[in-house]
Amino acid sequence: MKTTKASIYDFPTYYDLVFGSDTAAELKFLNECFATYVTGKTKRLFEPACGTGRLLYRLGKQGYEVGGIDLNSKAVSFCNRRLEKYGLKGRAMVGDMSDFVAGRRYCAAFNTINSFRHLPTEEAAMGHLQCVANLLRPGGIYVLGLHLTPTRGEASDEESWSARRGNLAINTHMWPIEKNPRRRQERFGIQFCVYRPTGTLKINDVLELRSYTAKQFSSLLAAVPQLKPVEFFDFHYDLKNPIKVDATTEDIVVVLRRS
Ligand SMILES: C[S@@+](CC[C@H](N)C(=O)[O-])C[C@H]1O[C@@H](n2cnc3c(N)ncnc32)[C@H](O)[C@@H]1O
Repeated sequence: MKTTKASIYDFPTYYDLVFGSDTAAELKFLNECFATYVTGKTKRLFEPACGTGRLLYRLGKQGYEVGGIDLNSKAVSFCNRRLEKYGLKGRAMVGDMSDFVAGRRYCAAFNTINSFRHLPTEEAAMGHLQCVANLLRPGGIYVLGLHLTPTRGEASDEESWSARRGNLAINTHMWPIEKNPRRRQERFGIQFCVYRPTGTLKINDVLELRSYTAKQFSSLLAAVPQLKPVEFFDFHYDLKNPIKVDATTEDIVVVLRRS
C-alpha cells in the first residue's frame, strides 16, 4: 500500500467522507440554535475553520447567506467550488481564524468539531473569540463545540471508524501520541486508509491540539465579555438536553450570545 505523510486537510474529498457521519445531526442542531437563541431573524452565517464547507454549503442551500475562513487553501478552493456549483451567495477565504476581519456583520457563527483547539495559545484563542465577537451583530450567537479534558474520570480518546461512498472506502484510526497538561498540548496520530478502484493509499498525519479543562475554558470565556454563554450541550446535539459542565465533562457545545 502506498503511504504518504501529509495533512489530512489537503484531501477535501476524503476529509468530507471521514468526518461526514454527524452532518445531519449538526445541521438540525444548528438550525434549532439559530431559531431559539438568535435575537431576530437569522440570515447570514459565518464558519471559522470552515474547511471543505461540509456544513456551510448545505446551510447555503437552505437559504442562508454564508461566509467562512480557513487556513488550508485546498479546503477553501473546494468549499468555494461547491458554493459556486450551487449558485450560493457568499464565499470562504483563506486566513487565520485568530486574526481576521469578516468585512460584514453576521447573525450567527459556528465551529463544531474541535477546530478551535487547533489554536495553539491562549492569545490566539482570545484573538479568535474577539474576531467572532466583532463579526456578530448584537443578539447574534456563536455555537462552539470542543472536547474538554476531564479532571475526574478517564478521557476516551482512541477511535477507529469506517466510511464508504460509492467506490471510495476509508478506514480511519486516531490515537493519542503525547499529552502535556502543563503546556496544554496534545498530539494525536491520525491515519486514513483509502481504498479506491485505482489503488490504496495510507495517509499519516499528526494533529496538534490545545487542551482545555472545564475551568480553563470558563476562564477563557470570561476574558471576552461581549460573548456570554447562554447554554451548554454535548455532542449528542440535543437541544432538549442541555448539560451542566463539571470536572467529568468530555465534550461541550456552548452557545455564546453577542451582547
Ligand atoms: C476538523 S476540521 C473542521 C472543518 C469544518 N469546520 C467541518 O466541520 O468540517 C479543522 C479545520 O480547521 C482549519 N484550521 C486549523 N487552524 C486554523 C486557523 N488558525 N485558522 C483557520 N482555520 C484553521 C483546518 O485547516 C481544518 O480545515
